[in-house]
Amino acid sequence: MVGFIRDKSSTPGAFAPTRFEADIEDCETVGTVPDALDGAFIRAGGEWFYPPKFPNDAPFSMDGHVSAFRFKRGRVDYKGRWVKTPRFLANRAAGRQLFGIYRNRLTDEPQVRGLDGTVSNTNTLAHAGRLFTLKEDGLPYQIDPDTLDTMGPWNFGGGYEAPTFTAHPKRDPETGELIAYGYEATGPASDDLYLYAIDRNGAVTREQRLKMPYVSMVHDIAITPRHVVIPVYGLVTSRARLEAGQIHWGWDKNAPVLVGIVPRDGEARDLRWFKAPPSAVIHTLNARDEGSKVILELAAYPSNPFPFFPNIDGSPWDPKGGQAFIRRWSFDLAANDDRGQEEILVREPVTDLARIDERSFGRPYRYVFAPYHDAARPFDADRARTGRPRVNCYGRFDLATGNTSTYFAGETHTLQEPCFVPRRPDAAEGDGYLLGVATDFAVSRSELVILDAQHLDEGAIARVILPFHITPQVHANWMAADELPFLS
Ligand SMILES: [Fe+2]
Repeated sequence: MVGFIRDKSSTPGAFAPTRFEADIEDCETVGTVPDALDGAFIRAGGEWFYPPKFPNDAPFSMDGHVSAFRFKRGRVDYKGRWVKTPRFLANRAAGRQLFGIYRNRLTDEPQVRGLDGTVSNTNTLAHAGRLFTLKEDGLPYQIDPDTLDTMGPWNFGGGYEAPTFTAHPKRDPETGELIAYGYEATGPASDDLYLYAIDRNGAVTREQRLKMPYVSMVHDIAITPRHVVIPVYGLVTSRARLEAGQIHWGWDKNAPVLVGIVPRDGEARDLRWFKAPPSAVIHTLNARDEGSKVILELAAYPSNPFPFFPNIDGSPWDPKGGQAFIRRWSFDLAANDDRGQEEILVREPVTDLARIDERSFGRPYRYVFAPYHDAARPFDADRARTGRPRVNCYGRFDLATGNTSTYFAGETHTLQEPCFVPRRPDAAEGDGYLLGVATDFAVSRSELVILDAQHLDEGAIARVILPFHITPQVHANWMAADELPFLS
């Protein structure tokens, strides 16, 4: 521990930086871990190894950390490692934070401005037998699936030419093709987005170079069998903003929400833009084709969900911006009208860290699994100590019936994004397990809960209990044993 001084930018209690790497063999479990779970729940997230240079920096700058719960024959092993990017290694060699505010390289110390600045802390991906961590400001970093050692950036054998790669590529469940993209593809604050198709063997087979209507965060897309759907919205940036030393994103409430639709087998000139209601589209749920229409479903926020990305008009952040609602937007490619139609599908506010059974990507589907906060559930403030958990439930929202089935984590617990795992490859949609990490504020320990996805209200089938609080997660995925070359 060189030179680490806790300051006010460090979060106390159950979210305090742990700063260690860990191996736990044969974790303590409660209940029976299903033998059918053969693979790994692999998480990406981050914490500050050294405190940020700017106290108002975004948590999205935190150093990348990858962790895996490896399941085999009912036993679970845990491993956590830093993602050892050039940025992480440079900081560690210097014994302090050298990098500036979120995605503004002009605020880095001069000696590191030429280094790859990604922290690769957002998502994990298994494709063509390789494991990656992802962040949208850099290339994927390949990770050894057994040791979680960082192997380095990967550009798909040179076929992927953008310098950035989304944290949310989408895999077509029929073809195994991965649809990926990089935005700000010709440099910071550029309006270029390069869209790629990568086949099941990891070879780039198609590139479309698209122009965005303005420079916006393009955190996520959706796919159908025929189209790619690209939302842009009010988190904006510019060269002037960066040259002024500001954090990369600001919220412009007047920026129109636009949804680009481009045929997967078309050309860049085939991209069309449709108008959508005022909102912030960080994540999508799914999309599909219905005749001449493209249907996009998502848990969208009403406005800026992030208090650390300031409103550019100087107004204070509104906490209501952080309540997402599950909506359906319809865009008619045959109509002259470029306005989309909106329907609110679920009136219960959720977080947008919501998942579906991803074998349904691009197709009709029924179930949404979303974390949310139910204020009516009990909360033990004395034992939780560090404050009120923001997310205490996982809900299975049935879009066909409107019914909700709920798992309540506990009166001192908070939940991170879950992931759905099919019971078998041929199981019906939504038949399987829901896995997600809960942290118990009362004892500052984390556990992985394993739920029957069809019966969330029956409680956990099993819980894998760690002897510490785990590094905060952004996204996590299940990697089945046949997706990655695990040695053990
Ligand atoms: Fe994300």
